[in-house]
Amino acid sequence: MIILGIETSCDETAAAVLEGSPSTSSGSTSRIQILSNVVASSASLQSKYGGIIPEQAAREQIKSIIPVIEEVLSQAFFKKRLPRPAIGGARNDGVGVDAVAVTYGPGLIGSLLVGVETAKTLARIWNKPLIPVNHLLGHFYANWITGYTPDVYAQVSPKSHIGSENEVPKFPCIGLLVSGGHTDLVLFTDHGKYEYLGGTRDDAAGECFDKCARLLGLPYPGGPEINKLAEKGKDTFRLPRPMINSNDLDFSFSGLKTAVANLLHTNSTPGVKSKLNPSRHTGSVPPSEVELRNLCASIETAIIDVLVVKTVKAAQKYNVEQIIIAGGVASNQKLVSDLEFRIKDLELRIKLHVPPPELCTDNGAMIAAAGFFLPPRKANKNSIKDPLTLQANPNLSLAY
Ligand code: KG4
Ligand code: ZN
Repeated sequence: MIILGIETSCDETAAAVLEGSPSTSSGSTSRIQILSNVVASSASLQSKYGGIIPEQAAREQIKSIIPVIEEVLSQAFFKKRLPRPAIGGARNDGVGVDAVAVTYGPGLIGSLLVGVETAKTLARIWNKPLIPVNHLLGHFYANWITGYTPDVYAQVSPKSHIGSENEVPKFPCIGLLVSGGHTDLVLFTDHGKYEYLGGTRDDAAGECFDKCARLLGLPYPGGPEINKLAEKGKDTFRLPRPMINSNDLDFSFSGLKTAVANLLHTNSTPGVKSKLNPSRHTGSVPPSEVELRNLCASIETAIIDVLVVKTVKAAQKYNVEQIIIAGGVASNQKLVSDLEFRIKDLELRIKLHVPPPELCTDNGAMIAAAGFFLPPRKANKNSIKDPLTLQANPNLSLAY
């Protein structure tokens, strides 16, 4: 079975073609290969403004969506030695594609509409099923992708480790989603079946990285920038770890951002002794290079400490032996190594699943992968009989 996945929830225009082979009598798919995976990002454009301007992101989506889909279909079907499914003109047959999966929420409404309307049109003209995917659930499905075709391997990062079918997550498992807009913990009991355990009460972990980076004058997206500088710094500022000891599985990161803002503000108030560098007393003194690196290490460690403690606590509470992580922040190698360290330190028998970095940030492959496991019935309460009835939902969540 071949699925085209389309993802346009924010500032990435992404599409991928995945091939899966159903292997069990229940029809579940155990081997899912990426035939092609294309991501066009307007992040560098958004970076000029220190964050995303929704109107601009949507306009970039419109420019990129058709070229991205044409490219991803060309790459995949060249490999299959089949003619590329046509997406316009007289021959609108869609031969070779068995279904179209698309992110229908949550996200920026203008961006979402571009992907949803394109997917609806393709499903309709090709007469193929349309599978609506909740973006947040989609992120987790990067953990079920078992392979790349060799030439796609050549394009991905050397750190990419991708599992075999024996290594895909098993149920029950704890899922930690850490993206730019969401931080959620869920207990999965089957595909599409989960219990919501907790989430952030204010800023998401990725949002905290991005907002702290902005305070430090670093470009958007801030997570990778802080991550890079933190590698050469030390956790010298000991920032707060909000809610790390609370009895629930919720998070709160806005206080951490405020602590960073206060630190910088104190540093720039005339007459007030700088906390960044006690030898300086007045004026707007930007952090030195060493202070900047240490501040980045302190921010990163504070965020990661909370994520690690709460995720392992959830696994212990529900007595599960598998943890899956997902979302842009999951590409942070310190998060992965600290989680592994805590699991080992507590002598727990827990297997941690982490997608390769390029499948942690937004991509079409995770949406297509979700399409294999979440048939229309499960992906959306209202089964999509007529693709044209699908509506984008910017406020979709995992919590209900
Ligand atoms: O999942 P994603 O690509 O988009 C959303 O669905 O939001 O996540 C983007 C978020 C941004 O906040 C970005 O700063 C963060 O992921 N991020 C990172 C790293 N790479 C991306 N945060 C920390 N360390 C990283 N290496
Ligand atoms: Zn995302």
